[in-house]
Amino acid sequence: MSKRIVVLISGSGSNLQALIDAQRQDRLGGRIVLVVSNKPCAYGLERAAAADIPTAVLSLKAHRDAGKTRADYDRALADAIAAHAPDLLVLAGWMLILSPAFIDRFPRIINLHPALPGELDGAHAIDRAYREFCAGSRSRTGAMVHYVIPEVDKGAPILVEEVPCAAGDRLEDLEARIHAVEHRILPRAVRMVLDAA
Ligand code: GRF
Repeated sequence: MSKRIVVLISGSGSNLQALIDAQRQDRLGGRIVLVVSNKPCAYGLERAAAADIPTAVLSLKAHRDAGKTRADYDRALADAIAAHAPDLLVLAGWMLILSPAFIDRFPRIINLHPALPGELDGAHAIDRAYREFCAGSRSRTGAMVHYVIPEVDKGAPILVEEVPCAAGDRLEDLEARIHAVEHRILPRAVRMVLDAA
């Protein structure tokens, strides 16, 4: 039986698209059964719908506006995902930090981060890499897929690829090079993890 994948997104979903394309070409090692967004207007939701993949939106803001806590939100999110019995959760541009209680509920969670292990943890990693490059203190950055643990961007790496910073690069150039690497390594990492599951 095909392994069940839930993908969590917050934005454009170009990495989700790479997963959808890999699934169509039978090189993902499983099937995306749900796409979850914390943002109602994330473009990735349209990508999922165009591929006939069920979607769910769970907005932290809506939960807070309804007087609920962050722990309530994490529980609701985990319940909505657990109902789809996933073998693997993929954080593909998911911008919320997940609590240990959430992480404990699932057998495997992996995350995509646009930096090398041990460097530039947290948000805006590409912007920070570019600033360091412009200041002369960085000549390369990268992208990785890693297992999720409570410490943000610190879990064991699954796939890592370096990306050089080139003379004359604009931020958009570096971004495009990193995204191209992400789109390549994320589907491969999903397959590796599912094959080993
Ligand atoms: C990616 O660069 C990912 O590494 C970062 O957010 C971006 C998401 O891009 N965490 P997209 O929504 O997949 O296009």
